[in-house]
Amino acid sequence: MNDRDTIEEKIAGHRARLAVIGLGYVGLPLALAFVEEGFSVVGLEKDEEKAARLNRGESYIDDIPSSRLAQAVESGFHATLEEGEALEGADAILICVPTPLKVTKDPDISYILEASQAASRHLGRALVVLESTTYPGTTEEVVLPILAEGGRTVGLDFFLAFSPERVDPGNKDYGVHNTPKVVGGVTARCTELAVLLYGMVAEQVVPVSSPRVAEMSKLLENTYRVVNISLVNELAQLCQRMRIDLWEVIRAASTKPYGFTPFYPGPGMGGHCIPIDPFYLSWKAKAYDFDLRFVELAGQINDSMPYFVLDLVAEALNNQSKPVRGSRILVLGVAYKQDIADVRESPALKILPMLAERGATVEYCDPLVPSIKLQDGVLVSTPFTLEKVAEADCVLLLTAHRAFPFAEIAACSRLVVDTRNAFAGIAGEQIVRL
Ligand SMILES: NC(=O)c1ccc[n+]([C@@H]2O[C@H](COP(=O)([O-])OP(=O)(O)OC[C@H]3O[C@@H](n4cnc5c(N)ncnc54)[C@H](O)[C@@H]3O)[C@@H](O)[C@H]2O)c1
Repeated sequence: MNDRDTIEEKIAGHRARLAVIGLGYVGLPLALAFVEEGFSVVGLEKDEEKAARLNRGESYIDDIPSSRLAQAVESGFHATLEEGEALEGADAILICVPTPLKVTKDPDISYILEASQAASRHLGRALVVLESTTYPGTTEEVVLPILAEGGRTVGLDFFLAFSPERVDPGNKDYGVHNTPKVVGGVTARCTELAVLLYGMVAEQVVPVSSPRVAEMSKLLENTYRVVNISLVNELAQLCQRMRIDLWEVIRAASTKPYGFTPFYPGPGMGGHCIPIDPFYLSWKAKAYDFDLRFVELAGQINDSMPYFVLDLVAEALNNQSKPVRGSRILVLGVAYKQDIADVRESPALKILPMLAERGATVEYCDPLVPSIKLQDGVLVSTPFTLEKVAEADCVLLLTAHRAFPFAEIAACSRLVVDTRNAFAGIAGEQIVRL
């Protein structure tokens, strides 16, 4: 029996030791999926507070109940800040660290570098998989040389693959188990091992010929969403001018049984992925003398949406003979999407300060987001009451959390600007839709 057989046997026998670097929205659900299949999993997490919280069995992710986490902790799963403890002797290392943009919209791969260097310092004959969304070429051009330091040969001394994460926070229908997992290894053996590993938790694993194909497939998925959402957002701006109800237009177009997929407008895209990932691709494209114009244009339209929402509010108030200055505006929902607590890149973070800058008195209510950090301080969520709604000169709906009683809000409000069509089917002359 050689070492390679040992890894395969350990995986197949659910005896492999796994290390997950980064226990965030991606790493934590993945770690728990393996723990629940009987694998021994340790998480390397650099955020001390987060690690301590997880070790107490307290989940901070909406989709993961604390009871589920506590059960995993009871069966041996834990987070550590000590890289040696997590990585030494690991049979597989899954890298799930953030991939943000710098202010210049260039990729910031510093977290990938840091995680790869940590993996390299403790690397035995293990399988390393990068899960973070990144530009095509990262696995082979950035991670591979770090892991190969000291003369190690990929496919022989260690194994390396890229497998994009497709988790959709808040999605009750699709999770780790039933979302097909794409994997692309640097060598055929790397792919083989990664397919075997992910087959333990995913019903379907889709092998592709290289990490680049896997990296690009993730960026195609997210760029497709960005471009289509931006298209409807641009149409929303036109429809406003033409006084056409875009929501009705989309409903009508959606009756076509083929060739059309509906996307919906909103106050701007948010989250850690959709507004960010495509810029990884356009940045890389530049190295090939290629301007990815769709992405740049989509970015411009997305960036313009908060300003468009501001104009909508100003126009709606104006129609009631009120200026923005001095008006009381109650913002409902600040998370970037419905029923989750995540505010990363949320358009609300731009819209609230812009309203305040124009002299409005702004309060927000989000039952899932107790406070938000803005440039000039922290804003705390106000408890939701219909009195607050009735007092406001304008209720601005940015996130359609299901907890909001839309019919009751409509009944007592003076003015509603609805950016999500949450008030569909509810009558009210004072309701203005995006
Ligand atoms: N959130 C999503 O919905 C989603 C979906 C698909 C793909 N992705 C991608 O997955 C990756 C991770 O995203 P996320 O949402 O889980 O991020 P996150 O910020 O929720 O979690 C990342 C975690 O990694 C930790 N970390 C960073 N560097 C570390 C290091 N060197 N060692 C140990 N821990 C480290 C951070 O403290 C954090 O807890 C990103 O590339 C993202 O684009 C995210």
